[in-house]
Amino acid sequence: MLICRTIAEIKDFVRTARGAGQTVGLVPTMGYFHAGHLALMEEAGKTCDVVVVSLYVNPMQFGPREDLAQYPRDFERDCAMAREAGVDAIFVPTDEEMYPQGFATYVEVTGLTDRLCGQSRPGHFRGVATVVTKLLNIVTPDRAFFGRKDAQQALVIQRLVKDLNMDQEVVILPTVREEDGLAMSSRNVYLTAEQRRDALVLYRSLRAFRETVQRGERDAGKLRGMIYDLIAAVPGARPDYVEVLGLPELQPIEILQGGVIAAVAVRFGNTRLIDNVIMEV
Ligand code: PAJ
Repeated sequence: MLICRTIAEIKDFVRTARGAGQTVGLVPTMGYFHAGHLALMEEAGKTCDVVVVSLYVNPMQFGPREDLAQYPRDFERDCAMAREAGVDAIFVPTDEEMYPQGFATYVEVTGLTDRLCGQSRPGHFRGVATVVTKLLNIVTPDRAFFGRKDAQQALVIQRLVKDLNMDQEVVILPTVREEDGLAMSSRNVYLTAEQRRDALVLYRSLRAFRETVQRGERDAGKLRGMIYDLIAAVPGARPDYVEVLGLPELQPIEILQGGVIAAVAVRFGNTRLIDNVIMEV
């Protein structure tokens, strides 16, 4: 597995692969790999000749009071896991490489970013959209792979690729969970044993949402209240948002019809976790 620290090196690698008639898949990440990341790499390997993973903890998508400095990192372990997953090249740029002096261009997706994490993390999606646009332009993959766990992020990326007439196919893969249902996240390592138990309420409340909809409930307000109450009943859980919205625009709805998403963000101590479930009603 090739380790590329500069844009010139990774462009060179991709140019050579293309020259040999190979298709290229890109999996953008911030590292500290878990089974969710590995599932994206494996799917990329199944559908593309060459797999590139980017590993960059993008400062632009963290707010001033967020966990940029504490974000978990283990480059050696990540390299071993990526190699094991069959990744061909890993792109690990520095901040200077990505945002050199004088950098002044940003990508902002409007509308879709008004709610959920866009509301509770101002500037977050501007950082995500900007860095993902840069990564897609640098690597120019045939396909780029993202996880449904970050459902709003996936929608934002699909929108920017369409709106900016980029050629990449965006592939969204299902959320990978621990055996007990907790969505895999690099941030799960922050949790104490007690918080780890409390955090199960995310999936429990979303499963209750799904079952209640399957039994016929269509009132978005009632369903939102049910999820909220289940979360608020856990003393260690502080809900950041709980929303039931329509897809594909994340529009507010009163009655569930067509594509819907229930999305939650909850704090356990200083750790903020997100999860969601998507249904076709
Ligand atoms: P990161 O949190 O490292 O996630 C990298 C990719 O893995 C994202 O597409 C994310 O949705 C996916 N992922 C994370 N947990 C998952 C899970 N449990 N199941 C399935 N997929 C999962 O998301 C980012 O990095 C960054 O915002 C990035 C897109 C790289 C831009 O900086």
